[in-house]
Amino acid sequence: INCTTNQYTYNAFNSKRVAPLWVFLHEKAYQTRDTAIESSVMTKVKGFGVYNNRVMDVADYVTPAQGASVFCIITKFITTDNQVQGSCPEVRSSTFLLPACISMTGRCVNYNETFKTCEIRGWCPAEIDSVHYQPMLEAENFTIFIKNSIRFPLFNFTKGNLLPNITKEYIETCLFDPRTDIYCPIFRLGDVVRFAGQDFKTLADRGGVIGIKIGWVCDLDKSDDQCNPAYSFTRLDSVSAKTKVSPGYNFRYAKYFKKADGTEHRILLKAHAIRIDVLVYGNAGKFNMIPTLINIVAAFTSVGVGTVLCDIILLNFLKGAEQYKAKKFEEVATQGWVVGWQKSFLVQSTKTEAKSLMHSYIFSWLCMLSTAKHFKALLS
Ligand SMILES: *[C@@H]1O[C@H](CO)[C@@H](O)[C@H](O)[C@H]1NC(C)=O
Repeated sequence: INCTTNQYTYNAFNSKRVAPLWVFLHEKAYQTRDTAIESSVMTKVKGFGVYNNRVMDVADYVTPAQGASVFCIITKFITTDNQVQGSCPEVRSSTFLLPACISMTGRCVNYNETFKTCEIRGWCPAEIDSVHYQPMLEAENFTIFIKNSIRFPLFNFTKGNLLPNITKEYIETCLFDPRTDIYCPIFRLGDVVRFAGQDFKTLADRGGVIGIKIGWVCDLDKSDDQCNPAYSFTRLDSVSAKTKVSPGYNFRYAKYFKKADGTEHRILLKAHAIRIDVLVYGNAGKFNMIPTLINIVAAFTSVGVGTVLCDIILLNFLKGAEQYKAKKFEEVATQGWVVGWQKSFLVQSTKTEAKSLMHSYIFSWLCMLSTAKHFKALLS
């Protein structure tokens, strides 16, 4: 008995007993959590750039135009003007052959004075994309305005990133800064790229995908103005930053025209773009009785107090306590255990570790389930 008492005293004060409590508080195990955040994002880009001696505005370089959470800011165009349906020599780039077999006519024609290539049928003249252009570097000063509205459906809590204390005057002049202006919803493209750890010139030249993440991690036990967005920035296509095979991000699109005589022609554009993906994530927690109870029991189970705690609740406070008491004491009696909880605890510790553990686990699981059920019944 002496030995077990010492053992118990030792166990009572070792870190195993404190750890679950710390985890319980730190992980906010007394809250229910809503992780199904609902969100809408609207964006607007502003700024002027110069490309090939042409002034470019938003309608020229942003696609798609709807202001969605994913959009491209085109920093480099390779245009092929006046393409019409016809036959012309194919263009062979030094790195790979255009797989144009289906549309080949089978003839060999002059590409230039020294070089002959196959003739193709399709949109002519064919695109030459091996020429090098400077990207539109003014894009560094373009600004992105982000309007984000979120809702946690479980708590019916809504909020937006245009916080109540943001004034009209402030929003007209502010720029996001991670130290001084952490809630300004206007971002300079050059800053966004820099925060994501990228070099602007390289990114503008090759194209790439940058993520602007908006995090809403809220403790709704605190006041509403403590639930605020946190912005972070990352390069999402880190694979294409490293690979030599297909570096960057580009895509092609065309603008179609019809001449007076009815013939169709088009301008083909190959665009290198910085794509911005605005990603919203978050969760919110609020105090709730059921997880509190379940987690208290679970936390103490590992040190064997769960059994005692549960029994106290079941024996004294809940409906059907009488039946439970009868059953419990009968069980104790038939197994030859001492009646009385402190003593039962001591005797248990003299048995093998495995048996005591098993008993403790099975019993506290049953207890947890029945407590939760009782509480649900009481609350509903
Ligand atoms: C961006 O704006 C700053 C200040 O207005 C200016 O000094 C800089 O030259 C601009 N950058 C580019 C690439 O045009």
